[in-house]
Amino acid sequence: MPGLCGVFCFVGRMRLVLYWDTLPGNGMDYEITSSHILYLTFPMEAVVLELVKTKHELRQLLKAVRSEGKSVGLVPTMGYLHEGHLSLIRKARQDNDCVVVSIFVNPTQFGEGEDYNTYPRDLERDMESCRGLGVDIVFAPEADEMYAKGSCTFVDMERLTDRLCGASRPGHFRGVMTVVSKLFNLVRPDRAYFGQKDAQQVLVIKTMVRDLDFDIQIEELPIVREADGLALSSRNTYLSPEEREAALVLSRSLFEAKKRIEDGERNAELIRSGIVDKISSQPLAHIDYAEVVDAETLEPLREIKNGVLIALAVRIGRTRLIDNIKMEV
Ligand code: PAJ
Repeated sequence: MPGLCGVFCFVGRMRLVLYWDTLPGNGMDYEITSSHILYLTFPMEAVVLELVKTKHELRQLLKAVRSEGKSVGLVPTMGYLHEGHLSLIRKARQDNDCVVVSIFVNPTQFGEGEDYNTYPRDLERDMESCRGLGVDIVFAPEADEMYAKGSCTFVDMERLTDRLCGASRPGHFRGVMTVVSKLFNLVRPDRAYFGQKDAQQVLVIKTMVRDLDFDIQIEELPIVREADGLALSSRNTYLSPEEREAALVLSRSLFEAKKRIEDGERNAELIRSGIVDKISSQPLAHIDYAEVVDAETLEPLREIKNGVLIALAVRIGRTRLIDNIKMEV
């Protein structure tokens, strides 16, 4: 018997309703003819991207979100978004009912003489990227909104922050932990998303969450690279074409080291010196550090075993780039 059938499903944030007429057909009870298919789509709710500049407004919005029992995912960034950031946002969109992206170039994590003032900023373009990915809230405060006048409380950590970037950028992780704690308190997310690109940063954040009992799931996502291997970074925009080419020495030296370990090399010093030699052969590159460390403790390794992190910070001209590779041996 011909009749009207329908299905109902969610596609992204749209409701899709399919109706069709059923007609008798060969070998089947009914045949669906395309001319009878009717699509009806309508949004689950008005999808509006909110740009929020104040803590008060952020808290008000999120109070309403939580009162509806919705889960919240937070992606902390300093903006000038690229595919690395977008990979975090996409995952947050998959996992949560409400996605908050923070865009804040955080002064307390920049040292004297670092690039706080020149750090690239483009809020309009970032808003477009966030809109395209279905972000609900962009939180982009000014520095004097984020830090009350007279702010004098900081979050700090021992040992893990003495090494790698912590050693070459004193005070950097104190600034990162302080701003991330503030974002966690403001947003109170169920999950927060970080990239392996900043391997020490995500380890420090996971440790802080454990030590200070933040009730937040930290998700770590892999490094997104250009086709030629360069890890995406907002700071890549500082590179001249010649420097951009020279910067490939970071990922190439890491990939070579990985191959040697896969081929059986277990002497960490040999791996490290191979990387140092390769980078030193590039005249525009100056090593800040090149370390082969335990991925959990960041202690230097003699023998390659268990979880290994090979981490680099290299100056290409005036631009400091970091990259790393993690392996389980
Ligand atoms: P930012 O450098 O903007 O990075 C924001 C997040 O994007 C970090 O978790 C970082 O690891 C991740 N990310 C950057 N490049 C990536 C890439 N190529 N692949 C995958 N993920 C990548 O890190 C910071 O900002 C700040 O320190 C912050 C945590 C926001 C605190 O101010």
